[in-house]
Amino acid sequence: MTHNELFALAFAAASKAYAPYSNFRVGAALLCDDGTVITGVNVENRSYGLTICAERTALTTAVTQGKTKFTALAIATPDAQYPVSPCGACRQVLSEFVQADFPIYFGSTSDNIIATTMGELFPFDALHELKKQ
Ligand code: THU
Repeated sequence: MTHNELFALAFAAASKAYAPYSNFRVGAALLCDDGTVITGVNVENRSYGLTICAERTALTTAVTQGKTKFTALAIATPDAQYPVSPCGACRQVLSEFVQADFPIYFGSTSDNIIATTMGELFPFDALHELKKQ
C-alpha cells in the first residue's frame, strides 16, 4: 500500500470524527505488518481533557485486535489549512510500539502530505531501561 493510499483511508475516516467541541476532525490510518489497516478518529468529551486523539484510537483499536506490529501511520486533518502533526501525548504512546525509522505521514489534504519518522517527531526517546516483561 502506498502512503497516498494510506492517507486516503485516514482522510475518509476523519468524516467519522466525534468533534462537536473543536469542530476539528482528525482521522488516522495505521498500517499493520499483516497488511491490514486500522483507522481511528478523535473522540471528544464535554470534559474536554478526556478527549482521545485519532492516533491513539487507531492504536488502541489495533492492539485490541491483537495487532502490535506496525508499518506506517497516516493522519488527516481536513479542517486545517496545513498539515497537523501528532500531539506530544500521541508521540509518546506510539513510541511504545514503533522504532525510530517508522514512517509517519500527515496532511490536511492529499496535496500537502508531509513525510516524517517517529525518530524525527520524538527524538531523545527515553525510559527504555524499564524492560518489558
Ligand atoms: N487531535 C487529534 O486527534 N490528533 C492530533 O494529532 C491533533 C489533535 C484532536 C484532539 C481534539 O479533538 C482536536 O483534534 C483539537 O485538538
